Amino acid sequence: MISPRLAFLVGLVCPIVNAAASSPNDTYIHPKNGLCTDYTITETVTWSKGIWNLTKPQNNFDIAALRTSLGALDSHVVPFSGFENATDSYELSGTFCEPVVKNGDKHHTVLLATHGGGYDRRYWASSFRPDEYNFVQFALECGYSVFYYDRLGTGKSQIVSGYDVQSGNHIELLAKIAQGLRKGKYATGKAAKKIVLVGHSLGSIFSFGAVTKYPEIAEGLVLTGASLPNSTDVANKFRGLNPTYQNTLLASSVDPPYDRDSAYVSMGDIYAHAGSFFHEPFDIPTIEYAQSITQPTSLLEMLSSGRVSNAPVSYNGSVMITTGEWDMLACGGHCQERFDYGTQNSTFGNARVRKTYIHPGAGHGVNFARGARVFYGEIMGFIGEFV
Ligand SMILES: *[C@@H]1O[C@H](CO)[C@@H](O)[C@H](O)[C@H]1NC(C)=O
Ligand SMILES: *[C@@H]1O[C@H](CO)[C@@H](O)[C@H](O)[C@H]1NC(C)=O
Ligand SMILES: *[C@@H]1O[C@H](CO)[C@@H](O)[C@H](O)[C@H]1NC(C)=O
Ligand SMILES: *[C@@H]1O[C@H](CO)[C@@H](O)[C@H](O)[C@H]1NC(C)=O
Ligand SMILES: *[C@@H]1O[C@H](CO)[C@@H](O)[C@H](O)[C@H]1NC(C)=O
Ligand SMILES: *[C@@H]1O[C@H](CO)[C@@H](O)[C@H](O)[C@H]1NC(C)=O
Repeated sequence: MISPRLAFLVGLVCPIVNAAASSPNDTYIHPKNGLCTDYTITETVTWSKGIWNLTKPQNNFDIAALRTSLGALDSHVVPFSGFENATDSYELSGTFCEPVVKNGDKHHTVLLATHGGGYDRRYWASSFRPDEYNFVQFALECGYSVFYYDRLGTGKSQIVSGYDVQSGNHIELLAKIAQGLRKGKYATGKAAKKIVLVGHSLGSIFSFGAVTKYPEIAEGLVLTGASLPNSTDVANKFRGLNPTYQNTLLASSVDPPYDRDSAYVSMGDIYAHAGSFFHEPFDIPTIEYAQSITQPTSLLEMLSSGRVSNAPVSYNGSVMITTGEWDMLACGGHCQERFDYGTQNSTFGNARVRKTYIHPGAGHGVNFARGARVFYGEIMGFIGEFV
């Protein structure tokens, strides 16, 4: 679920601490190699709010109609009639972890992780096969600290109307968290010396949006589940099909149903999830776990993400853009060509370092892909060398 331009990549392997097998998907489990603290974040933000100008969907026929109009090759859906400035206070739920075993100064670098559509913060901290799939555990093994949170409208964070969950407030909230971490807020009082924004999918778009508006908030930017096709790339035409790939339905209508208004949608079923986030051969228990931690996505956060990436980027830190080889949502299914001809160099014209990595065999949900540790190792290698 991505914007028109910024869509939705054998290295270092850090020593592993054996984590006990825990029962999957029940809870938010702190990685056992972390000293972790849960936070309730309360921030007031002034944000650019899109004024919804489409008919509010009433049922899944309306969603089917919306999918068709978004996916058409000549699609010209204009969801917003304009934008206004709004000021709101929100409560988010997040977790800060620092490594039990320190590795020099590295724990003063905080990875600020923002999940994408369809999940909450458990995307970064799988309780299922954590040695394979837990990004936070891996980062801690490498000596880094991590702050990961549920975006507004997901998980344990405040659930507001989906019509009020948009790129604008996500970006401002992310910037507030980064600014807070710099002062030790949300991090047991320890001021972060360096901050790396790590996003997945929509979370990458919001991380991109945050450094575009506030270039000083981070020294590093890692966009996962993302690619930057050029303007004539056929992959751009596939973006509008993302809701179709996911068999998007009203979140209130899926099994089990979510108590959400009509702006919240979910992946239709586990097969839609498999097709849009994974790549065959499928590891079915992994997909079942991923399915058990899915969360609704707001239509407006998806549809407002398109305008995020059109601003000039003065950000001068290092950037890594990475996704799976067969990422349906970011690349229309084949990422190598997107990366070969992508606009990463011109988009990040001021970046100190630009790196790309394609994870072989994987789809969009790279944290749950085969060989995810190699993927994590590439990210940590980038941070270690260039941030
Ligand atoms: C808002 O929707 C109305 C009714 O469909 C349409 O006439 C109008 O042009 C739209 N406004 C914008 C700014 O797109
Ligand atoms: C919103 O605020 C910004 C920054 O203060 C200002 O430039 C812009 O004109 C405002 N937009 C509207 C629609 O009021
Ligand atoms: C990078 O940008 C920051 C502002 O975001 C600025 O303070 C700094 O001087 C810039 N560094 C270089 C090397 O241009
Ligand atoms: C844009 O990307 C496409 C495919 O990725 C490539 O074939 C084409 O040559 C690229 N155009 C430019 C101007 O780089
Ligand atoms: C948890 O995930 C497993 C697969 O790993 C699945 O069989 C089970 O139904 C899930 N439990 C819940 C409560 O969703
Ligand atoms: C981006 O720049 C690197 C060198 O910094 C170059 O190797 C690569 O081909 C460039 N990519 C594109 C798409 O122009």
